[in-house]
Order: sequence, then structure tokens, then C-alpha cells
Amino acid sequence: MGRLDGKIAIVTGGGGGIGSAVARRFVAEGAKVAIADLFEDSARAAADPLGDAALAVQFDAADPASIEAMVAATVAHFGRLDILHNNAAMTDPAKHPLDSTAVDIPIEIWDEIIDINLRGYLLGCKYAIPHMIAGGGGSIVNTASNSGTAGDLARIAYGTSKGGIITLSKYIATQYGKQNIRCNSVAPGVVLTDALDATAPGLKEIIQRHILTPEFGTPDDIAALVAFLASDESRYITGENISISGGGLSHQPHYADLLDLMGEHLS
Ligand SMILES: NC(=O)c1ccc[n+]([C@@H]2O[C@H](COP(=O)([O-])OP(=O)(O)OC[C@H]3O[C@@H](n4cnc5c(N)ncnc54)[C@H](O)[C@@H]3O)[C@@H](O)[C@H]2O)c1
Repeated sequence: MGRLDGKIAIVTGGGGGIGSAVARRFVAEGAKVAIADLFEDSARAAADPLGDAALAVQFDAADPASIEAMVAATVAHFGRLDILHNNAAMTDPAKHPLDSTAVDIPIEIWDEIIDINLRGYLLGCKYAIPHMIAGGGGSIVNTASNSGTAGDLARIAYGTSKGGIITLSKYIATQYGKQNIRCNSVAPGVVLTDALDATAPGLKEIIQRHILTPEFGTPDDIAALVAFLASDESRYITGENISISGGGLSHQPHYADLLDLMGEHLS
């Protein structure tokens, strides 16, 4: 018996590294899942190995009508909706360098990132929640990021969108808790995906000095947490943001410098 037996789920950005791992985990736990992505090919590549348990849906998180249609297509196909994993993010490597500082960022890049990453999550909730309430409740898990909880030298729009997701999740939890809707966010630190190497070469080596675990996390590590939050095992957890980052934000800021200074005494 799986923890998600009989549940119907949507995973946005389901063609990507973390989303496809979550979709696989949901199905392994007994759910059926709509794998929704901007790119139909990657949604199909993630859905095809899962057979009848998965449905590939093309949608654009920047387009409200497309989000509404994606939710409707899922409910039309599977008959109900219990779980929403908002996970898509603007991950175009050509645009990443433009998401820079307050003074330098082109305003259209700010708007695009906020529209996809933050407004898109609100709209997923807006269209999913009525179906969840009709079915007796549901669980929403939003992918934020550690970038949403502290400042950084670049990526002001991305970080602000992720901070907004953490707050959005608390509002959804507050406004629909009594109707048995739970909503939490997960905040990954660096996770090993193809996208990471494409968008931030060299970042891994820097971050390695600041995590507490020997290894980086993988998409399967994120999927394990998302599956727990989607399941009834977490029924008393709502409105929380859970960092999953090898303790990257759990130590004093001087940790890596002290390791360099005293490394031989700490091994
Ligand atoms: N990989 C990391 O280290 C890391 C760290 C913190 C947070 N995250 C977050 O995890 C989530 C998944 O990221 P990932 O690492 O799997 O990246 P990824 O690029 O593999 O996946 C993102 C997916 O979103 C899709 N997407 C992009 N724009 C879209 C749009 N307009 N409409 C619909 N789908 C769209 C992409 O096609 C892709 O499949 C993102 O929200 C990201 O911000 C990742």
C-alpha cells in the first residue's frame, strides 16, 4: 500500500530534473499524476515510462488561461484533484545573466520571472483549490528555494519570487486550512540537475564549502520530502517552509572560513 494510493496529482515543471523525480515518486507511492510543462517533449519523456498512471500536459505558467486549462484537463482525465506540486520556474539559461541587480535588471526580465515563478503558483492554487475542496481537501507543495530566504549578489527577481512563494504558501494555508487544504513550501539549496550545470557553472564548487553534508542532494531527495508533504502522514504540517539543503543555512556565516583555518582539527 502506497502513501498516495488513489490520489490525483499535478506536477508543474514535471519535465525537469526535480519535477520528473517527484512525478516518479508520486506514482511509486500509488498516485496518478499530470506532468505539466512548457515543453511537451519533456513532459512526454517523463510521462511515457509511467504508463497509464501519468498524463503529459503542455502549458505555460506565464499564461493564466493556459494554467486554468491545464488544471481542467487533469480533472477531466482523472476525475478529481488531491495534490498540486507547483514547481515550474523560468530556467532559460540565456536569460539568467540578465536577472542581476536592482539597478541593472531589465524590467521585462523581472516581470517575466515574477509572472512564471510567483503569479503562476498563485494561479495554480486559484484553479486547483475549488476541485480539492469539492473532493474533501488536498495538499499543495510549492517549490521555493533558499534563495528566497536571504540576499545574494545576483538573481534579484528569482530570489524575490521564491521569497514570495514562501509567503504565498502561508496565505493559502491560512485561508483554506479549515476546508482541509494544506499548503507548504520546500526550499532546496543546490541540487544536482542538468539545469544547474547549464545555468551556473562553477557554483557547485563554491557551495560545497558551505553545506554540512558530505554530498549534494539530488532530485530524488527533494521528491522524498515533497511526497511526505503531499501525503496524509504530514496532516498536521501546514504553512511551513522546509529547507532541504544539506544544512546550508543552519550554521554560522563564518563556518567555511573556520574550516579553512582549523580544518585539520575538525576531520
Ligand atoms: N536545481 C536546484 O539546485 C534548485 C535549487 C533551488 C530551487 N530549485 C527550484 O526547483 C524547481 C525545479 O527546478 P529544476 O532544478 O528541476 O530545473 P529544471 O529546469 O530541470 O525544471 C524546471 C522545469 O520548468 C519548466 N518550465 C520553465 N518555464 C516554464 C513555463 N513558463 N511554464 C511551464 N513550465 C516551465 C521547464 O521546461 C523545466 O522542465 C524550480 O522551481 C527551481 O527554482 C532548484
